[in-house]
Formats: sequence, structure tokens, C-alpha cells
Amino acid sequence: MEAMDIGMNSSKFYVTTPIYYVNDKPHIGHSYTTLLADVMARYSRMLGHETFFLTGTDEHGQKVWKAANDNGIPAQEQCDRTVSRFKELWERLGINYDRFIRTSEEEHKGIVRKILTRLHDKDLIYKADYKGCYCVPCERFFTEKDLAEGGLCPDCGRKTDEIVESNYFFRMGRYRDWLIRYIEDNPSFIAPDFRRNETLGFLKKPLEDLCISRPKTRMSWGIELPFDSDYVCYVWFDALINYISGVGYLENPEAFAKWWPADFHLIGKDILTTHTVYWPTMLKALDLPLPKTIFAHGWWLTGGDKMSKSLGNVVNPLELADKYGVDAFRFFLMSEMSPGQDATFTEELFVARYNSNLANDLGNLLSRVVKMIVKNCGSQVPQAGEFGEDEESLKASLFSAVAAMKESIVSIKIDKGIEQVMASVRLVNKYFEKSAPWKLLAEDREKFATVLYAGAESLRIISGLLFPVMPEKMRELRRSIGLSEEDASRIDVSSLGKWGVLKPGSRVEDCAALFKRIEAPEKARTALPASSKTEAPPQALNEDGLISIDDFFKAKLKTALVLEAERVQGSDKLLRLQVKIGETVRQIVAGIAQHYSPEQMLGKNIVVVSNLKPAKIRGIESNGMLLAAKAGKTLKLIAVDGEISSGADVG
Ligand code: ME8
Ligand code: MG
Repeated sequence: MEAMDIGMNSSKFYVTTPIYYVNDKPHIGHSYTTLLADVMARYSRMLGHETFFLTGTDEHGQKVWKAANDNGIPAQEQCDRTVSRFKELWERLGINYDRFIRTSEEEHKGIVRKILTRLHDKDLIYKADYKGCYCVPCERFFTEKDLAEGGLCPDCGRKTDEIVESNYFFRMGRYRDWLIRYIEDNPSFIAPDFRRNETLGFLKKPLEDLCISRPKTRMSWGIELPFDSDYVCYVWFDALINYISGVGYLENPEAFAKWWPADFHLIGKDILTTHTVYWPTMLKALDLPLPKTIFAHGWWLTGGDKMSKSLGNVVNPLELADKYGVDAFRFFLMSEMSPGQDATFTEELFVARYNSNLANDLGNLLSRVVKMIVKNCGSQVPQAGEFGEDEESLKASLFSAVAAMKESIVSIKIDKGIEQVMASVRLVNKYFEKSAPWKLLAEDREKFATVLYAGAESLRIISGLLFPVMPEKMRELRRSIGLSEEDASRIDVSSLGKWGVLKPGSRVEDCAALFKRIEAPEKARTALPASSKTEAPPQALNEDGLISIDDFFKAKLKTALVLEAERVQGSDKLLRLQVKIGETVRQIVAGIAQHYSPEQMLGKNIVVVSNLKPAKIRGIESNGMLLAAKAGKTLKLIAVDGEISSGADVG
């Protein structure tokens, strides 16, 4: 057995999500951050590290109080009702947190009061008159000069309320220079890089002290200040403390010493300033070390807008999980968003990714391997013969996926890690096509056994790598390739860097239905040139309207040799083509009959998009799209200039 080195560097791992407001039920945005934390925590456990994953709810403040009033119920009841919706959703989505903290818990409230007392005693909190403009949705004060035009909130663009009152202040301003230096000296403190620059940009302006109280006469839903019972604590000051109260600050010194500082605070970009300015200054005032990395991910958008409760364009995660399965949902969220960037959510994208990555690539590989072993090897993993060059390169690709996955977790590029694993899946499929075990069956029984063993062993590694993302489905997959119940669900990362772990003789079982194809609703689509209208959903563009090279390469362009061509009955526009792409033959329906006759098409080496989700055109399945240039009534095929084999990459 060969091994490769793998491991995160420290032996404990503490990851947090924001604690969510309980003014309304959770949506995909909240699910995303929580899932990301779950995947990281599961991976860390696979590495054998002691792991603590904290999530919870932010229950005080004006926003929650207002929701309770609107619903005509007491604030605590508003919290209790909404908290159960969060907890139910996390349970349904397989979120494996270690602690769910609620800021209305006595323990948390006690710790906040102790902190307030301590800072007040140290004269880091003082009382003064105040005039400012308050944004309830953001729960933030802004001074007049900070407001956007028309007196609107500079963050969310909504109306603010002017407020004049006496309040308590935390001496945040004095930490400005220290904080700038800290951020500059610790490049991994705020990620991605451009978010660090955003915070440094914010800190160019003078930093004001932070108003940390609300008079009860205006809003009484909060933690009472220990030194003035006429006031409650500002909701953000209370909420941020959850990251330390959740691991025992001032209550359980042993636990606190073990877990703090956190390895990752995962947040959305909407709450960058509170986390990278307020929170570090609070910790500094308490003489505590800062979290190692605050990572701000982008937004899930629908129709170009941020998905948000107040905009009323939210996608209900429960509905999706019910319709397509929890693991498919987890897989989509983790693979579709590049965590620093925004991502667009549409059901079409969901179905397309599911069908191409899970039903086609992974599902096909699994059913091939398992079916052939069941049929030809008495359902037992066969003993492999000598490994040749092909098996070596397979192994190399899998090992590099193992390394990529690890790297993608620590650098929070989980989509990239998954993409590498999927590339390995496609490579194993290619290996199968090339080795053609169905032919070997009669010709070379030993080689046949080697190919099937290599297929099953690859699936063991692949399923281990995808385990944190799709725990249920991967457990089933691992059972079906003959791993014991324990090995199926408890994975040690070191076993993924080894080849030859799966034992010959293990009992294989068919699980063909693991990733059933989702039949996309039939749409009138003619496979015409790339420039014509297709129902391709909008992709997240960069702000300048340009796409990255990675975006471009999402479309897999290949050369294809036309083997057969015929007119589609009842249509004067459509040709049905059989094209050879490398070792596979595919059917493509193309709207070119008015420009090319079937005879003209035969033997042409054309260019096709090979990873387009299949569509039915006039009831005929089309698996890809050919490229052509069109101007007015003229249409010309894009073809290859000279001899090249079919299936060659174009790009
Ligand atoms: O801000 N796309 O709570 P909140 C991606 N209580 N992520 C999204 C999202 C979207 N469209 N919408 C929400 C609060 N999120 C405070 C936090 S922490 C001490 C206090 C996620 O209920 C994302 O993580 O408004 C975002 O930062 C968080 O939910 C905001 O949740
Ligand atoms: Mg919010």
C-alpha cells in the first residue's frame, strides 16, 4: 500500500457561523453559511482533530422586537417559535453542530453582563448624549455624514430613523491605529483579500466610539446593563460575544483555553464591519486574542438581487431538500458558489448541476462498476492483477484530488476541491471507456479484474472525499462497494491517501437509484449556435461584465466526428446527428437542416459543447450542442482546420 502525507496543522478546530436573527424563518443564505461550517467541521473530524462547531440565534434588538409586535406575540415567544424552525431545518439538512447558542439563554446573558461590568470598571464604557440615524434592518447607527443620499442607510439603502438620546459608549475609537496595524501584520485575519482591503478602507476614516446601549423607554428587548437598569445592551455588542460565551468564557476556563481563539468565523459580506472592526476592538479591550480568520462569503442572488427576507425573494431550503434530496441540495450549494463571490440561485442551475455531476458522472461510474461486479464476479470485489500505466495515472489523479480537497477546505475554496474530485470521476469514467472491461471479459480475465478493482477502489477514495458534503449518499455508496457499515460512515482521511485498501472478496450490492436523473421540464429548444437564445440561466458575472477563464472552461468544447446524419421527420429545420467524441457516440439534434444536408455533414469534424445538460427536442434526446456562426440567413459550421482526433479539447 502506498501512502501520502495529509493533515491540517493544528490539532483543534473551532468554527462558527453568524447567529441568525429570529425575526423570520431561515432561507438558502442562512443554510449556506451553516452548511459551509458543517462541511469544514466534518472534514476536520475526518482528520482526527478535536472539533467544535458553534451556531445559534441572535434574539435581542429592535428587529426581533418589531417582528414580535407585528405578529402580536411576546418577544420571547417570537424567539422560541422561530428558533425551532432553525433547529428543524438544521436537523433536516444534516447539520452536525456541537452547540446551538441562543442569546436569550441565562448563561450567555450572565457573561455579557460580566463583560459590561468589567469594561465599565476599566472606564472603557462611558455615558454621553447622542444623535444618530438608526437602521433597524441592519441594527446599526450611522452619523449623518455616513448616510447615503436622501438620509438612507449606506449599507442596505433603506430609510433610517433619527434618534437623539443619552447613551453608553464603548471607547472603540482608541483602537483604530492598533487595528489597522494588526490587520496589516496578519494577512490571514480577514479573507478573502479584497475584504481585508474593504475593512482597511473603512478604517481610513476616523473611528467613532460605539453606542452600546438602548434606553428601555424606546426598546426594552435586550440584556439590562448591570450599571444602569434604564438601559439594555445594543444587540450587536451582545451578539458578537456569543463566539466566546459559547465556549465558556469566564465560566469554564478549561473549555475556553482549549477552543479560543476560533479558527474560522464564517460570515456573509453583509456583516463585515461588525466582525472585523467592532469585534476585534471588543476582544482587545478584554485582552483576548483575535480569531484566526474571519471569512466573508458572497451572496446568493435571485434575479440579480440579494436573497433576503425583507426583499421577499427567498428560496425555501426545505422545499428543495424535499423535492431533490438533502444531499443533492448540500452538493449544489457547496459546488455552485465560489465562496468569495456572489452566486445565482435558480432551479435550472440546480437540475443541470445535479444531472451532469451526480446523475451522469458519479452515478454512471457507480452503476458501471457495481453492475459489472455483481454480474461477473459473484458480487465480490475481484482481486486485481498487475497495475499498469493507466492505473498509475488514475491513482495520481485521485491523490491530487485528495490534496486539492484538503487545500480547498483550509483556503475555503470548497467548490474548487469538489471540482477536482469530479474531474477524477470523469477520468475514471474515461479509463473505463478506454479499458473497455466488457471486451476484456472474454479476452483477458485478469485485466478485467484489475479494471474493476481500480474502479471500485477509486470510488472508495472519491466517496470519502465527498463524504463531508453528502454524508448520507456517500455512506450508501460506500456500503454498496463492499465497505463495512463502520468504514462506510467513519472516514479517516489517511485512508484516502492510500491505494489498495478495499479488500478483494468484499460484498458488492447494486444501488442504481443513488442519483436518479431529474427529468427537466421539456422546453422548446433548438440546438442552434451559441449566440442564439437558449434557456441557459444567467451566470454570475463579475462587476465589469467579464467572465473569468474558469467560467469559460465550464463549457467543455470538444471536437466531434459526424458518423450519421438524418432529417428529423416533420421538421424542416432539424437534423439528427450521431457524433463520435473520443470513445463515445452521442446523439445531437441541431437546427441546421436549412443550411446543411445530411450528406454534407457526414465525416465532418465539428465542435460541440459536450457538457450541456441533455434536452428533448421534438421528443428526441439531444446530448450536446454544435457550434456554428450565424449572420442573418447565413449559417456556417465551426469546424476544425485539419486532421485531429475526435474528442480533442477545444479552448
Ligand atoms: O446579520 N446569501 O443575522 P441575519 C448568502 N444576527 N448568505 C446569506 C444571505 C444571502 N442572500 N442572507 C443571509 C445577522 N445570509 C446577525 C449576525 S453574528 C454575531 C450576528 C447569511 O439573520 C450570511 O451568513 O441577518 C449572513 O451574514 C447572515 O446570514 C446574516 O443573517
Ligand atoms: Mg441580515
